Formats: sequence, structure tokens, C-alpha cells
Amino acid sequence: MKIHFLHGTETGNSEMVCEDIEADLGPGFECTIDSLSDVDPSGLDGDTFYFFVTSTYGTGDLPATAQPFVEALEKDNPDLSHVRFAIFGLGDMIFEETFSHGSQILMDKLLAADARMVGDRGIHDASGSDMPEDIAIPWAHGILASLSAEAA
Ligand SMILES: Cc1cc2nc3c(=O)[nH]c(=O)nc-3n(C[C@H](O)[C@H](O)[C@H](O)COP(=O)(O)O)c2cc1C
Repeated sequence: MKIHFLHGTETGNSEMVCEDIEADLGPGFECTIDSLSDVDPSGLDGDTFYFFVTSTYGTGDLPATAQPFVEALEKDNPDLSHVRFAIFGLGDMIFEETFSHGSQILMDKLLAADARMVGDRGIHDASGSDMPEDIAIPWAHGILASLSAEAA
């Protein structure tokens, strides 16, 4: 199974989450990790499962590396009905009003383009006691279990 991790990050946490999930998956998966800034949404394909991982910056904005991807979604309005994805957001409840808004924005844009979301949005709160990977790895296994159940 082909898995493409796409991250939006300012200080590297989201990229690290992608790497940690990949390292935990074991054999049987053909994984790639890229910055959202290097990917055109119109090029997403139906043979790959996409894990989006993004933080939130500013006042509830996407990090700079995720912004070109969302701008391209808005400009090109591609039909992503062949695309399956899951999304994980990193944020901090200190920013209560805008907690994990970046991942919410990206999720809403993908759904508006008719991409099909698998499972619930994963969330990490930097104010909590868990490390991001402690939440993200079991979440990712849950997503893949849902996918296998669908395929069976
Ligand atoms: C200047 C600044 C602004 C932030 N704004 C928000 C915010 O509005 N909402 C939120 O949930 N988290 C916010 N955060 C927290 C980050 O999303 C969180 O620290 C995340 O783990 C960073 O991940 P990254 O290294 O992948 O960018 C902010 C952090 C900084 C430093």
C-alpha cells in the first residue's frame, strides 16, 4: 500500500510526526514524506493513501509551508473525489480560540474538493503531557485498521 505523508510545519514537529508514524508502520507500506509546499493538489492520486499532518500558527492560520497547497486548492478547484485521506493537527490549547484551526481549515478545503476522509481528525495539544507521537501513532493505526476493514 502506498502512503504519502504531507506536512505543514513551522518548527518541524509535524514533519517529525510523519517520520514517527512511518517508522512505526513496519513492512508492507511504501511510504513517502513531503512538505505540502512541494505538492500540487491536482496531482494527488487514487492509488495512494494520504496522511496530512499540520500545525497552526499566527492567529489560527496554516503554517507558511501549507499555504501554497491551500491557495492552489482555492485557485484550481480540482475534483479530488478519487482521493482518500486522514488528517492530524498539532496545536496548543493556550490558543484556546484558534486551537488546531490550521488542520480544520485544511480538512474543510479537502472535503470541499470532494476528497474522502477516513476516520476522525487526530489532534495533539502541546499544553498536554503527551508527546505528539504518543497520540499520532495509535491514531494512524486506527485509520489503517478502518481502511483494511473497508477493503475486506
Ligand atoms: C507564534 C505561534 C503561534 C501559534 N498559534 C497557534 C494557534 O493559533 N492555535 C494553535 O492551536 N496552536 C498554535 N501554536 C502552537 C503550534 O501549532 C504548536 O506548537 C505545534 O506543535 C507546532 O508544530 P510545528 O513545529 O509542526 O509547526 C502557535 C505557536 C506559535 C509559536
